[in-house]
This record gives sequence, structure tokens and C-alpha cells, in this order.
Amino acid sequence: MIISINAMARAFFSTIVGFILLFSVACSEQEQQQEAEQQGEQQEQPQMQEEQPFGGDEDVAFADALWKEMEKSNLVGQSRIVDSEPYKGAPPHGMILDVSEQKITVNGIEGDLVVKRNYGGDGLTVEDVKNDPAKYLEAVTIMFKREDGYDDENRNWFYVKYGSDGTILTNPKGALLAGRVAKGAPTGCIACHKSAPGGDYLFIHDRFK
Ligand code: HEC
Repeated sequence: MIISINAMARAFFSTIVGFILLFSVACSEQEQQQEAEQQGEQQEQPQMQEEQPFGGDEDVAFADALWKEMEKSNLVGQSRIVDSEPYKGAPPHGMILDVSEQKITVNGIEGDLVVKRNYGGDGLTVEDVKNDPAKYLEAVTIMFKREDGYDDENRNWFYVKYGSDGTILTNPKGALLAGRVAKGAPTGCIACHKSAPGGDYLFIHDRFK
């Protein structure tokens, strides 16, 4: 009788141990699965961040198409008609500037375009620029209002900095200045234009609020 109670106790005990073992194996499997999922998520994140805010192939193609449209509209290039009054500027845009704006269609997207021409040279005067604008033109900076969804949190502006001949200029790190320029960075087109009065990213007026 004593022996059989002993045997029963041992059988009971080993069943319990068995259950505990099974349970802990199941738990650790679940944990491993969770860990694997978390790692998967972590691996996906860098891919999402890789989308370049500016200077990519699409931005460059769009900026080139935009330059051609501006030439057709005589806003830049040899046949440009000087229809805006040059004024004295300040850094970062140049000694003497002039701005014109109009609606334009680029690759089927119609939007407001603001073109700023930046003139430079020693002792340059407004008269010099009026008399020979092409000679002193150093850069053309533009803002083009693109379709909804392009960059909703920054009013969908597309930025470019061109040289006087339409080549896209680069920043000191070699990135082409076309697109959502320097989005997320503390300096650059977006960071500075964000502070323009009226919340429309333009300093010149608040019409595109
Ligand atoms: C440090 C600040 C700053 C940065 C960076 C900057 N801008 Fe400007 N921008 C201004 C100011 C101030 C004005 C208005 C005065 C003037 O015309 O210089 C202006 C004017 C302009 C205008 C005329 C419309 C307006 O807002 O009055 C355009 C277009 C423009 N900038 C494009 C650009 C582009 C493209 C870049 C980047 C390549 C850029 N800006 C970077 C400060 C900045």
C-alpha cells in the first residue's frame, strides 16, 4: 500500500513537471515569434526613410521640364522680357533681385510659379541690372506650387536653384537643389521659407495662403 502511494505520487509529480515543461516551451516559442516580428519591423523602417525629399531623378526631370516651360514663357533665357523691377536684396539670395510670377503647366500639373533672379557683381547697381540683366545673372531660384499630396505639411511647394543657364545647382554636400529642398533639415529653402509671414512660405506677399 505504501509503495503504491509512493508510485502514484511519483506519477502525479512527473505529469505536473511535464505540463510545466510543455508550457514553458510554448511560451518561449511565442516570445521568439514576437522578437522576429519586431526585428522585421525594424528592418523595414530604413527602407521607408530612404525616400529622398529632394535631388532624386524625378525631381531633376521635373526641374528640367520646368526650365523648358519657363523658357517658352520668356521667364528665363535669351528672349526674356524684363517685366519686373529689380530691387536691392540681402543674403542668401543676392545683391540685386527681381521677382515675377504667373501660372504655368509642367508635365500636366498647373500651378503658381514664383521666379526670382539673383544678380551679383562688385558694386552692382539696380541700373546696371536693368541695362544688362543677362550679364549679371548668377542664379534663378523658383518655387512652384505642386499638386495636393506632394508635400501637404509644407504647402506643396517645389523648390529649385538653377544657375543662369538652367543647370541645377548643388549644396555643399553635392545634393542637387530640386524638390522638397532640405525637408526635415534645420536650414535650407523649406526651413527658412516656413518662417515667412502669412504661413504661405512666401516673403513677398500672402496671396497663396
Ligand atoms: C536663410 C533664409 C532663406 C533661405 C535658406 C532661402 N530663402 Fe528664399 N527668400 C528668403 C527671403 C528673406 C526672401 C525675401 C527677400 C528676398 O527677395 O531676398 C526670399 C525670397 C525667395 C523667393 C521669392 C518669393 C518670396 O518668398 O518672396 C523665392 C522664389 C525663393 N526665395 C526661393 C528660394 C529657394 C529655391 C531656396 C533654396 C535653394 C531659398 N529660397 C532659400 C529667405 C531664404
